[in-house]
Amino acid sequence: MKTKILITAILATGISLPVMADGHGNVMEARKIIKQFATELKGELQKAMKEGGPVNAISACNSKAPGIAANISASSGWSVARTSLKPRATANAPLPWERKVLEEFEAKKAAGADPKTLDYSDVVEEDGKKVFRYMKAIPTAKVCLNCHGGDEVKPEVVMRLKSLYPADQARGFKEGDIRGAFVLKKTF
Ligand code: HEC
Repeated sequence: MKTKILITAILATGISLPVMADGHGNVMEARKIIKQFATELKGELQKAMKEGGPVNAISACNSKAPGIAANISASSGWSVARTSLKPRATANAPLPWERKVLEEFEAKKAAGADPKTLDYSDVVEEDGKKVFRYMKAIPTAKVCLNCHGGDEVKPEVVMRLKSLYPADQARGFKEGDIRGAFVLKKTF
């Protein structure tokens, strides 16, 4: 019965079906790009940690993360970035709409949701063009605590982070916390 009503509603409005289909395709594409971004980042991080521990790996996050994001943006046509309510790099500070979504993620997590499942998408108009926007929460894993944890962060890592990021807020996280989110946008 419910399905019937839904189908009737879709047919009645006419245009909502292609919009819905397009939105779904964009979500799938955004998730694919995030997987690629996360895999490349993780690879660089693991390689650098193996070679020279967390102090050495800071440079992997510092210089490689923005580079990987730029490469993926150039090849996919999507804008790809990361943000957080407690950013390390000031360049990653959230825009007002991103802050709102991050706060919604926190509220959902507090209500029992698994951070791995948290995402958001919408379509807005910017400068007369339609923009599809997608955010996906990034959970904090154990390995992240080397540089985003509390007391477990080694003194030499603390020193290096302080000199690179004097306004660093990305400390004191625990495993399972929401570290931040991927932000993807596509103009169409
Ligand atoms: C070796 C140290 C190190 C480790 C380990 C590390 N990070 Fe980071 N992280 C950084 C640095 C440095 C930056 C700032 C990057 C930049 O300048 O864009 C950063 C930035 C980020 C950002 C972007 C938002 C912000 O705070 O600027 C996210 C999200 C993030 N890290 C998540 C993670 C997650 C999730 C893990 C574990 C899988 C992790 N990091 C492990 C050092 C680290």
